[in-house]
Amino acid sequence: MQKAGMSGFLHLLYVSAQLSGWEFLTGNKTMCGIVAYVGHQEACPIVIKGLKRLEYRGYDSAGIALMNGEGLKVFKKKGKVAALESELAGRELHATIGMGHTRWATHGEPNDVNAHPHYSFHRKLAIIHNGIIENYAAIKQALLKKGHTFQSETDTEVLGQFIEDIWENNGGTLEEAVRLALQEVVGAYAIVIMNEAEPTQLIAARKGSPLVIGVGENEYFFASDATPIVEYTNDVIYLNDHEIAVVKNGELTVVTLNNDTTTPYVQKVELELAAIEKGGFDHFMLKEIFEQPRSIADSMRGRVNAADAMVQLGGLRDYMDKLAKSKRIVIVGCGTSWHAGLVAEYIFEDLARIPVEVEYASEFRYRNPIIKEGDIVIAISQSGETADTLAAIELAKSKGATIFGVCNVVGSSIARATHAGAYTHAGPEIGVASTKAFTAQVTVLTLMALAAAKRKGTIADSLFRQLLAEMESIPAKVERVLQAADKIKEIAYIFTYARNFIYLGRGLNFPVALEGALKLKEISYIHAEGYPAAEMKHGPIALIDEDMPVVVIATNDSSYEKVVSNIQEVKARKGRVIAITTEGDTNLPGMVDFTIEIPKVHEILMPLISVIPLQLLAYDIAVMRGRNVDQPRNLAKSVTVE
Ligand code: M6R
Repeated sequence: MQKAGMSGFLHLLYVSAQLSGWEFLTGNKTMCGIVAYVGHQEACPIVIKGLKRLEYRGYDSAGIALMNGEGLKVFKKKGKVAALESELAGRELHATIGMGHTRWATHGEPNDVNAHPHYSFHRKLAIIHNGIIENYAAIKQALLKKGHTFQSETDTEVLGQFIEDIWENNGGTLEEAVRLALQEVVGAYAIVIMNEAEPTQLIAARKGSPLVIGVGENEYFFASDATPIVEYTNDVIYLNDHEIAVVKNGELTVVTLNNDTTTPYVQKVELELAAIEKGGFDHFMLKEIFEQPRSIADSMRGRVNAADAMVQLGGLRDYMDKLAKSKRIVIVGCGTSWHAGLVAEYIFEDLARIPVEVEYASEFRYRNPIIKEGDIVIAISQSGETADTLAAIELAKSKGATIFGVCNVVGSSIARATHAGAYTHAGPEIGVASTKAFTAQVTVLTLMALAAAKRKGTIADSLFRQLLAEMESIPAKVERVLQAADKIKEIAYIFTYARNFIYLGRGLNFPVALEGALKLKEISYIHAEGYPAAEMKHGPIALIDEDMPVVVIATNDSSYEKVVSNIQEVKARKGRVIAITTEGDTNLPGMVDFTIEIPKVHEILMPLISVIPLQLLAYDIAVMRGRNVDQPRNLAKSVTVE
């Protein structure tokens, strides 16, 4: 049956999309950064600067579209934004409207042609896009039948041509054509479109990929997040899913895909410029490691007061009863956020006596997980945009769970998709390798567990007070670990050319071992594995010889003696041991090759301290190997595709 109001062409697409099911794109899966400007200033420098700020989202290729009296011009280049900048050098590019894109591709070659922006078939439009058009193949087939040809392998070019085709054939406005096209699109997108016929018009839309609009004085900025916008204005609108924003002649209107006009909510974004600049450090990652005394304190600010034995999380206040009474907690996340979840598992079970399961969001979403009434799902994400975590949330929601979010990015999709949550307040994390986000996540999750335990009465008052007091001391203790940076650098130098690493820890230090290994592999490209120390003898011990560095977190806690035995097993096989020890440990220095001392703290809080030297070790080794630590190969900061 033909859908009401659907043109013959649209109907054809609808049917072919239905018949072919969901066709998963292989040409152009992007996470990408989007920035666009229309107003009275020169657009080119604003767009290029914005792309540099967004480069952490992807850096395979970059492009820009600018429009002036000479028409709509597109320039694009494989490689980083700097390569695009060189391409533009020496050209007269005066324009007060423009848009740019920095791309991250998982499939298909990152090259000049596949880079965005893409022209439409008759070059009336240019489009940039973040996301995946899953039914692009069906749309492409229909367009090919009509005689269209394509320059690139991308779904984005298909969408641009599709919109232009509807516009040309339906005779309505471009806004209507965008709306009709997006009604047919299966997938996720944030798009911005420029129209050669309208030199003051930008059209943007989102579904499943973030898009922020900065509102200035007679000017508008569009971006994937607020970082390219805050140096111009603090007034922003977070576009909602299924909304289309149109700026024309200085006026902004927002409509839904059903053509209902909405009133956009302008809010102040609290983001200081200094927070998104390197501030004298060689890399964002190093800056972010050194920011941890402050970021941990910020994640506790107003939430803990040891003197009054108080812990509270404003965003969860109305849900604390539900949390305390929950029969089970399921934690979902990816990468480092999953590691923070593993730490939380130990703490929630120990203090609040609530059973916890920690799942990779990507696995959780594709099984048929058992979610029972009274279950709480906690979704952890720095970016708040991770596609797998978002999908896990939607699945859990559909099964009736109550979902809490632990996110860093304010206003992010995950923050909006959850019933309640707590921001980590770590400030912008730009380095692809997550550092301060991890410690802030662990801090917030620990506070949640403490609050739940207190309410349930499963924690002794003396322990509750002790832990609150020790939490307040964490920033100063992290500061002390950072003072060992030079010593860690010397150790890193010795192991710069190691080919493999093993990381071992027990109890709460096991997830820290996983996190240390992840940090090393993602930025140095050295193969590294994290294991619970006792698991070593079940296989990995076969790898140990004089060429195998083994980092052991051997702090003075309840499993110390056991970990020392594991170290002896490694030494007996000539492995080279770098031990993270507690200050004052006189036993291990004679037994291992290197020690890095960290301050004593209650073992529940140890991950906040023991992870710091591992972050520095990974950073130093990566720098010594000449790696691009902030933008390691093949990675991007927010993984908005599955
Ligand atoms: O933004 P999220 O916390 O959801 O991101 C999850 C992972 O993609 C992220 O932690 C990734 O593993 C980092 N590169 C690790 O350093």
